[in-house]
Amino acid sequence: MDWVLDHADIDWNVLSNLYRIAPLGDKKPEDLRISFGNSRYTCLVFDGATLAGAGRVLADGVDCAYICDVAVHPDYQGLGLGKQIIERLRDCSAGHRKIILYANPGKEGFYAKLGFRRMRTAMAIFADQARAMETGLVEGD
Ligand SMILES: CC(C)(COP(=O)(O)OP(=O)(O)OC[C@H]1O[C@@H](n2cnc3c(N)ncnc32)[C@H](O)[C@@H]1OP(=O)(O)O)[C@@H](O)C(=O)NCCC(=O)NCCS
Repeated sequence: MDWVLDHADIDWNVLSNLYRIAPLGDKKPEDLRISFGNSRYTCLVFDGATLAGAGRVLADGVDCAYICDVAVHPDYQGLGLGKQIIERLRDCSAGHRKIILYANPGKEGFYAKLGFRRMRTAMAIFADQARAMETGLVEGD
């Protein structure tokens, strides 16, 4: 596997396809160009020409690092790659006072095994709050 920690040469259509099939949702190539471009740390893992996994961290350099958009290609899931991506992003984020993320419902155990603990007071405003409720990300009133 080749670990690429910058995204200068990434084909955003390929990354968008990874998120679609993982699945982690429909993320437009142009949106990914902006979100990865604005992320302090990014991680792309290739098996030859195949993009096997990806993730990124929004971070301020001292206080808070937010891990997001972690996904592994279905052909490579269950082989330890997701764990390696999180460990790599955690290493990149070392020195921050906190590293936070939110799990897709059903993935909490994956992050718990990697040392993350449930936050008791985490709250969020989603652009599509109704969908966030439907999918179990936030509680209703
Ligand atoms: C979640 C995801 C990134 C995990 O990656 P992966 O490469 O399949 O996971 P790994 O093989 O590295 O698993 C590491 C460990 O976590 C465990 N694990 C994986 N998924 C789990 C889950 N949903 N619940 C509990 N444990 C899980 C594995 O059994 C393994 O345990 P072990 O170390 O005791 O053997 C991957 O399944 C994926 O891309 N899913 C679709 C997109 C997604 O939901 N991303 C997460 C957004 S929050």
